[in-house]
Parts: sequence; structure tokens; C-alpha cells
Amino acid sequence: MASFAKAAFILATALAVGWALSRHAEEYNEYDPSAVTPGSIPNFPFRNCNTTNGAYRLAPVWRPSGINTYCFKIQVSQDALSCTGACCSADLHKIEFNVSSSCLVAGASVVATVNGVRTRVGATLDKAPAGPVGSAVLRLTQLGLDTTTAQDAEVCLTLKTNRGGQGCTTLEQLCSSPGFPAGTCTAAMFDVACDCCPVSQAGQALPPPPPVIPPVLRPCDVCIAATIVPPANDVRPYRYDSATCAAIQQNIANAMNSLLGGANINVFSPFAPNASQCFDTQIITCGRFNGSDTDALATLTGAVQQQLPAFVEIASGGTVCNPKLEKYTVTVSTINNVADQCLDLSQSASCFLPGVPFPNCTCNTTQGVMPFTVSPTWYAQPANVRWGRNVTEYCFTVNTLQPSQVVPSTCYNANDALAKIEWYASDAFRSAVKGFTVYPAGGSNKTIADSWGATGTDTLKVNLNWNLQQANGGKVCVAIQNPFTMGNICKGALGQCYASIFNRDNSDYCCPIYRTGP
Ligand SMILES: *[C@@H]1O[C@H](CO)[C@@H](O)[C@H](O)[C@H]1NC(C)=O
Ligand SMILES: *[C@@H]1O[C@H](CO)[C@@H](O)[C@H](O)[C@H]1NC(C)=O
Ligand SMILES: *[C@@H]1O[C@H](CO)[C@@H](O)[C@H](O)[C@H]1NC(C)=O
Ligand SMILES: *[C@@H]1O[C@H](CO)[C@@H](O)[C@H](O)[C@H]1NC(C)=O
Ligand SMILES: *[C@@H]1O[C@H](CO)[C@@H](O)[C@H](O)[C@H]1NC(C)=O
Ligand SMILES: *[C@@H]1O[C@H](CO)[C@@H](O)[C@H](O)[C@H]1NC(C)=O
Ligand SMILES: *[C@@H]1O[C@H](CO)[C@@H](O)[C@H](O)[C@H]1NC(C)=O
Ligand SMILES: *[C@@H]1O[C@H](CO)[C@@H](O)[C@H](O)[C@H]1NC(C)=O
Repeated sequence: MASFAKAAFILATALAVGWALSRHAEEYNEYDPSAVTPGSIPNFPFRNCNTTNGAYRLAPVWRPSGINTYCFKIQVSQDALSCTGACCSADLHKIEFNVSSSCLVAGASVVATVNGVRTRVGATLDKAPAGPVGSAVLRLTQLGLDTTTAQDAEVCLTLKTNRGGQGCTTLEQLCSSPGFPAGTCTAAMFDVACDCCPVSQAGQALPPPPPVIPPVLRPCDVCIAATIVPPANDVRPYRYDSATCAAIQQNIANAMNSLLGGANINVFSPFAPNASQCFDTQIITCGRFNGSDTDALATLTGAVQQQLPAFVEIASGGTVCNPKLEKYTVTVSTINNVADQCLDLSQSASCFLPGVPFPNCTCNTTQGVMPFTVSPTWYAQPANVRWGRNVTEYCFTVNTLQPSQVVPSTCYNANDALAKIEWYASDAFRSAVKGFTVYPAGGSNKTIADSWGATGTDTLKVNLNWNLQQANGGKVCVAIQNPFTMGNICKGALGQCYASIFNRDNSDYCCPIYRTGP
């Protein structure tokens, strides 16, 4: 009897507690369906409250923890950006997640823990009474956290299906956050009066980046580009022809292949000439090799760097002071596969020679001020018998410019003739020079005795008085006694000559200087 009474008492107590709990829950349950108008609040959290004001937010990333369990961290910030007034100090009473109504399955449930302890009131999946049709929330209430205890508190949800296996088990299924990656959950954090309901999101951590595996094979596709850049006023245009290109490609290829060998690098496809990589002002030579060994690649880089001046000389056809490249810039640089800068080098050069006291007068030496030029190369031919035995003629070709190319100046008037040509030549060789044979274009050749400037001015000169037609392709040949050569008698330019052309002899005249070589 006593034991029965005791059992009855316990039952009564259990009922009372059950009643008390449900009364208690009801006290906070403002979701009385009859008290709100369905669909009246279209947006989560489907209540009238301030979604931006409050101290509590979800940490941006949740973590999986065991079977169908996901944990969120709570962050507390009471700064002006997060909250104002009472919302900053209010306790955290309730969290609601915006969930998919498809997870509302009879018998399916969610178990919630805070810092590993089950919540006093079970988490509930529920329709949102004031929300639109199909809106649903997961409610965790009576949390009793404050701004101190909520900091870094961990809330874990275990998603359970019903006995039939129906219901949601992942956050991808449970959480509804349009515009965010799948698995992102949107939650609102409520104070007890439900005035403040800051909304925040937590998403899945991004997978760690794949580990960087050092490349086993790093094939390097590298080209060497040789480029000539003409001056703004390109009065003596020089362009690569196919034979020059082939020779330069071969020389660069030989040099590169030997440097690769020196660096002990395995070559997949040696540097080699390729006619389809020949352009007017650029020559490209390519190869492919194994760049996996970084030390070997560094050795190669150093070696190529050291050879760049030599490559510039190759690209210049021997020397950047090649008269054909007078006032040009020559550049040699590497071209890499965009993704992999195996070899990243570049060098530019131009020819700079010391100034010369020539011509011995004050006149305008700017190239292009007259429509006449002297071609960059001279050639040798057996001399007219008139100059005696064992004499060689060194011939300079004159060309003309289009009127549009002539640089306007005060020293030249239209139709001025090509009055004379002067060479900076050593007085010491006066006796070696026999005279000139001149060949005006479209006219007959004639011989002219040699003529020199005042002793000490080192000036050899010939009077021509050619018009544009006579000058266009006209030739002036200097007859010199063997064994001396034109290169021997000229001064100031390393076996080359400075030739200056004149339009007249009185004041304010032009005397553009052109460097010319064999
Ligand atoms: C919400 O609170 C912020 C201050 O944090 C305030 O600026 C804003 O006007 C409030 N919004 C509403 C709808 O009360
Ligand atoms: C809440 O979920 C519903 C779908 O149930 C969606 O239309 C709405 O955009 C969500 N709201 C937020 C703030 O994520
Ligand atoms: C020559 O260069 C062209 C253009 O880059 C390329 O398509 C071709 O394969 C090259 N030929 C050889 C033999 O490498
Ligand atoms: C490329 O070089 C690396 C490092 O020296 C070497 O391990 C690899 O076998 C080479 N691969 C080929 C295809 O030559
Ligand atoms: C021309 O040459 C003479 C003799 O060498 C020299 O004295 C004079 O300074 C020179 N004049 C010019 C303009 O170079
Ligand atoms: C030569 O002529 C050019 C073109 O008119 C001008 O720019 C330059 O200043 C002149 N030089 C001299 C030394 O007169
Ligand atoms: C130069 O002119 C003479 C006639 O005056 C002619 O016989 C000779 O062939 C010409 N020489 C050249 C190289 O044109
Ligand atoms: C021509 O000059 C060379 C030297 O340049 C000399 O060896 C040769 O004997 C000379 N020939 C004649 C026919 O004078």
C-alpha cells in the first residue's frame, strides 16, 4: 500500500512537472496560431523584431561533429556596429534557424546541446505561423545565456529521422539560405522579449586547398626574341631578310643548346631555326627543355644572362655598331609560356661612339634634313685603269628620301642639289687615294681627281652637284692604292667611315652624317 501510494505520488509529481513544463513553455510560446495572421510577415525570422540590433551572432563557419551532428559557435559583440541600447545587454533566450519545411516530418527530430549539455527544452521543428506558406523554423528556446556565457558557446544539432528513415540529416537539407552556398544556415538570436533578433549566417568551412605537389616535370618552352627598333625617323631602313634570320637563329640556337648542355639540363627539343618565326624586325628562336631541377635552371639563367651581350651582337649581325643599325636599338629577351616564367631575361643596346670633329664646320648634321642618304655599306670593285695598277675602288651608293621623310629645317630648300660628299679620312693617307669615279644615276660615269680639306681637318671630298634623279642610286667610288683600304684611311669609327653630304658651301647649310661600313 505504502509502495503503491509512493508510486502514485511519483506519478502525480511527474504529471505536475509535465504540466509545469508545458505551462512554462506556453508562457514563452508566442506562436499561438490564432494570435497571428498567416503570411503577414514574409521574411525570416517571420516576426516583428529588429534583425540588425543585438549582441549575438553565429560564427561564420560550422563544423561537423559525429553522425548527423553539426556544431555552431556563438559570438558576442557589443560594439556600436552590432547593437545599440538594451539589445546590447539582453540575454540570449532563443535561437531560430530558417529551415526547409520538407524537414518537418512526423517523428523526425533534432537534439540540441549547448556546450555538450542538452537544452532544457527540446529543439522543435515548426511552421512559422506568421510566415508565408511553406516557411519553417527550428527553435531552440530557454537557452539562458548571457553576454558572458554565450561567448564561444557551442551549439550542436543532431538531426534524427523518424523510424521510417524519413527526415533531414544534413544541413544542406535542413537550412534554407537562398543566395548562399548549400549548407549555409541562417539564424536569428532572440532576447526574452523578442525585440532584438539579429540575423546571421554560418556556412560550411571551405575544403583546405589541395597540397602543393612540387612538379615532377616542369617543361620549359622558351624562345629568344631578337628585336630591332628603328629610330623615329627611319631614313636608312634596315629589316631582317630570311637569310639573315636563318643565320641569327642558327647562332642563337647553337649558343642556347651549348648553355643547356653546360647546365646539365635535359633538352626535349633543342633550339633550332624556324623560318616561320622570321619577321621584318624580330627573329624568334625556340626550344623546350626540362626545368624541374631548380638549381640547374638557376645555373642556366646565370649563364644566359652572361651571354645576353653576345646575343645582342648576334642579333646585330656581329656588332651593334653595324652601320645598318645606326640609331637603332637592339633588344634580346626571352619569351616564356605565359604560365611558367622559366627564363625571364632581357637586354637592349645601341651603338654609342665617341663624337668626332667632323665635318670641320658649323652646319646641321641631323640625318634626314636633306632628301639624300649614303647607304650603310660600301663595296669594293677593281678600279678604272685610269687610276693605275693595283688600285681598288670603294663605292658608296647614294639614295633619296620621300619628301614626307625630309625633316624640315632652315638649312635645306626644296630642289637643293647634292653639292658634295666629305669623308672623315686621315691626312696621312692622302697619297694612297688616287681619285674618284662617280656614277650619277641615269648618267655617264666620270673620273674626278681627289681633293682634301685644309691639312689637319682630315677631310676627303668630292664635288657632285647631283639632282634628286642623279642621286637616286648614284654611286661615288674612291680609288685607293692597295694594300690600303677604305677602312684604313677613315678615322673615328673602327674601320668604318663617316660620310657627310652637303647642299652648298655658304652659310647655313646641311651636312647630315651617315656612318658607313664594308
Ligand atoms: C534596428 O536597430 C538599429 C540600431 O542598431 C536602428 O538603427 C534601426 O533603425 C532599427 N530598425 C528598426 C526597424 O527598428
Ligand atoms: C528562409 O527560407 C525561405 C524558404 O523556406 C526562403 O524563401 C527565405 O529566403 C529564407 N530567408 C533567409 C533570410 O534566408
Ligand atoms: C615553327 O614555328 C611555327 C610557328 O610557331 C610552329 O607552328 C612550327 O611547329 C615550328 N616548326 C618547327 C619545326 O618547330
Ligand atoms: C627532369 O628533371 C628532373 C630533375 O632533374 C628529373 O627528376 C626528371 O627525371 C627529368 N625528367 C625528364 C623527362 O627528363
Ligand atoms: C677645323 O680644324 C681646324 C684645324 O684642325 C681646327 O683648328 C678648328 O677648330 C676646326 N674647326 C671646327 C669647327 O671643327
Ligand atoms: C638641324 O635641323 C633640325 C631640324 O630642323 C633641328 O631640329 C636642329 O635643331 C638643327 N640643328 C642645328 C645644330 O641647327
Ligand atoms: C664608264 O663610262 C665609259 C664611257 O665614258 C664606259 O666605256 C664604261 O663602260 C663606263 N664604266 C662603267 C663601269 O659604267
Ligand atoms: C698589288 O699589291 C699587293 C699588296 O696589296 C702586292 O702583294 C702585289 O704584288 C701588287 N701587285 C702588283 C701587280 O703590283
